[in-house]
Amino acid sequence: MSEVESRVVRFHEVGEPLDVLREERTLIAEPGEGKIRIRVSATGLNPADWELCRGFMPGVLPRGIGFDVAGTVDALGDGVTDVAVGDLVFGASDFAVQPSAGAADFTIMSQWFAVPAGLDVVQAAVLPMVLQTAVWSLDLLEVQPGETVLIHGAGGMVGYAAVQVALRLGARVIATAGPTFAGDLEGFGAQVTPYGSGMVERVRGLADGPVQHVLDVSRPNTGAIADLIEIAGDPTHVVTISNHDEARSQGARVNVDELLAAGGYPSSAFLADYAALAARGEFTLPIAATFPLGEWRAAAELSLSGAPHGKVVLVP
Ligand SMILES: NC(=O)c1ccc[n+]([C@@H]2O[C@H](COP(=O)([O-])OP(=O)(O)OC[C@H]3O[C@@H](n4cnc5c(N)ncnc54)[C@H](OP(=O)(O)O)[C@@H]3O)[C@@H](O)[C@H]2O)c1
Repeated sequence: MSEVESRVVRFHEVGEPLDVLREERTLIAEPGEGKIRIRVSATGLNPADWELCRGFMPGVLPRGIGFDVAGTVDALGDGVTDVAVGDLVFGASDFAVQPSAGAADFTIMSQWFAVPAGLDVVQAAVLPMVLQTAVWSLDLLEVQPGETVLIHGAGGMVGYAAVQVALRLGARVIATAGPTFAGDLEGFGAQVTPYGSGMVERVRGLADGPVQHVLDVSRPNTGAIADLIEIAGDPTHVVTISNHDEARSQGARVNVDELLAAGGYPSSAFLADYAALAARGEFTLPIAATFPLGEWRAAAELSLSGAPHGKVVLVP
């Protein structure tokens, strides 16, 4: 086992992603205790990658982008016994600790699951962050079978996942989304209406009764929280993942506030179950576009547009 040379996309100073990110060659270290190194097959990008460049969760620089990743195990750290070199895995790059992350030829992983037979590696790579966010946030709302849940912003990938998760919990799901994925979401079993002007009345009309829970997974936008509280009738029945300050000032809930107050992120063991569902075609996320690693700038521009309409993926 030794260091391997790799292209990496990373930043040495905090700023706007397209200003500070650069592609470089560097050596990727041997994995430390309890970690693995993979040859990357696919990297799913998330809005969080751009927030990291802007200073979210500050850490030692340089740092890389690409939390979500899938690839072939290339080296094992001490104590790792659940995978072997050559296995195909997906999960989380060790982005908070290493000087590079999943947007690379090789990366160190801190958490991984086997890619089940029948699941395409690109589909595996995009699962972790949106599913973790959707599952943990719906858990905070304590959604029960038969209750009505509004997923606001279900045209985004966290929302697209959350609709499927909430339906699996047995909830009745109302979703707001633009036209791109309205048909998909209805196909899963949700009732769908556009977001924007008149949303409160449209959702009330569809619900025809109380909406017990609201999960706000829209991209940050002003005014959404007040509308969502009006729909739920109680600010504590609204959890947001993106409109943090507005939610805090109006008594609504912010997922990361509660997850961090609880002492850290909960288990991600459900990712193995969702990968199995995805392999059987019972859970899916749309891919907006797949870019070669060298075209990371175009990939970033699509995600930064605010409306990528699907997951944006890099492949080496
Ligand atoms: N706190 C956390 O734990 C956490 C974790 C992950 C993500 N996030 C945040 O959550 C947000 C969503 O992430 P994502 O990965 O789902 O993003 P995404 O897939 O890039 O979502 C973009 C989509 O959101 C929809 N949208 C845009 N503006 C909207 C609005 N004003 N109201 C409702 N929907 C709107 C659009 O779809 P349509 O027009 O087709 O409907 C757009 O294509 C981001 O801000 C991200 O930073 C937070």
